[in-house]
Amino acid sequence: MSSKISAKNVNLFYGQKQALFGINLDFKEREVTALIGPSGCGKSSFLRCINRMNDTIYGCKIDGEITLDGENIYREDLDLTLLRAHVGMVFQKPNPFLKSIYENVAYGPRIHGLFKNKSELNEIVEKSLTRAGLWKEVRDRLNDQATGLSGGQQQRLCIARTIAIEPEVILMDEPCSALDPIATAKIEELIDELKENFTIIIVTHSMQQAARISDRTAFFNMGKIVEFDTTDKIFTNPSNQQTQDYITGRFG
Ligand SMILES: Nc1ncnc2c1ncn2[C@@H]1O[C@H](COP(=O)(O)OP(=O)(O)OP(=O)(O)O)[C@@H](O)[C@H]1O
Ligand SMILES: [Mg+2]
Repeated sequence: MSSKISAKNVNLFYGQKQALFGINLDFKEREVTALIGPSGCGKSSFLRCINRMNDTIYGCKIDGEITLDGENIYREDLDLTLLRAHVGMVFQKPNPFLKSIYENVAYGPRIHGLFKNKSELNEIVEKSLTRAGLWKEVRDRLNDQATGLSGGQQQRLCIARTIAIEPEVILMDEPCSALDPIATAKIEELIDELKENFTIIIVTHSMQQAARISDRTAFFNMGKIVEFDTTDKIFTNPSNQQTQDYITGRFG
């Protein structure tokens, strides 16, 4: 299978401080890859490299190369809006816009001009909410404020908002950390369905979650990749002692 995204020798600096060291990782199309590792090891920093969210952080510098479908996403003439249309992101804390449920989902399609008329937009909104497993709960209150939803519903809304523009890649930074086990299970089921169409990279602190939902797992420590392999291998027979210690809770 070909690589959807490929990171080659990526170094990242915040001012003088180096946070990522020579990261090499390949992400395969329609797979879920989990990024795991202790707090502060650089998981979020790396995730933000993939849609250039670090561009907004003052003093942040990146070298090396990241390609999406073989194209360097750090080249100078790259259209950032287009990149973020291809590479969507879901954050740790649900962050719906201060708009109605409907408008949260319609926002991206409006920016990117993805529909011809109102009924097409209605279809996109319904389809996205359905895929995110939220339609039944919100169909009668689409014009209500999104902030009136529960945390788990808000997170599914953010996922609906992300998939409404049909990205190719979805980045998720601890998307379940603010959710209860039931809402978490729903998001995990959703991720399982989404991988039929999307390439997913998810940061998680839950070993169980990584083991349940991912095809491959990368273990980061102190800004470096310690081990990257199939999730099965990482969780049953890791090659590296640090990985072994981390997944069994004996680390640090
Ligand atoms: N905006 C920033 N400015 C300066 N340093 C930063 C910034 N963001 C992160 N760092 C530093 O970079 C290192 C990696 O941080 P990062 O947030 O990527 O870790 P993480 O693996 O996502 O941790 P966590 O599991 O706690 O979310 C840390 O030392 C952190 O303090
Ligand atoms: Mg983080």
